[in-house]
Amino acid sequence: MNLRQVLRQRRRERLHRLFERHKRIHALLKEHGDDILRSDNFRKTRAHIQHGTMTVHNHCMNVARYSLLLNKKLRIGCNKHDLIRGALLHDYFLYDWHDKEYLAYRQRLHGFHHPATALRNAEKEYLLNDTQREIIKKHMWPLSVIPPMCREAWVVTAADKYCSFLETVGVHKGHGAYRGEKAS
Ligand SMILES: [Fe+2]
Ligand SMILES: [Fe+2]
Repeated sequence: MNLRQVLRQRRRERLHRLFERHKRIHALLKEHGDDILRSDNFRKTRAHIQHGTMTVHNHCMNVARYSLLLNKKLRIGCNKHDLIRGALLHDYFLYDWHDKEYLAYRQRLHGFHHPATALRNAEKEYLLNDTQREIIKKHMWPLSVIPPMCREAWVVTAADKYCSFLETVGVHKGHGAYRGEKAS
């Protein structure tokens, strides 16, 4: 086997590993958050932009994926069920924060207010435990002032910052807002 064949083979193996990892993570998201993923309100977040061209829907999916990866790589030992559900619901504020009317009303304080709004919305639809509540409430730390009190909330906070940064600088690109469904 010459060098080019070796490199091609390695690339194929790397892509295969990535594909398998993606499949495993997707299966975990379905196992622990299928009701959220299928819900009308969660699907409607495809009509809202989070950062750059990334929708709130894809942002939350990515935060859940990176939270799982971080937990696995660093062997943090999080409860996967709480980690996934908290990550999927952490930005469940259900409005477009780029909306000019909204910005005028809330005086551009979305960063401070949205965790409480997300928590209120999530509690209307899902039975949350303390860990899931903590994840949603503290994910904007240090804006929340009081730091997260459980490992799951720390992991989601870190994954959220990582994803938000890559979306803002354009490394993580989305497909823009999905206009097939109107935002609630
Ligand atoms: Fe957020
Ligand atoms: Fe977020």
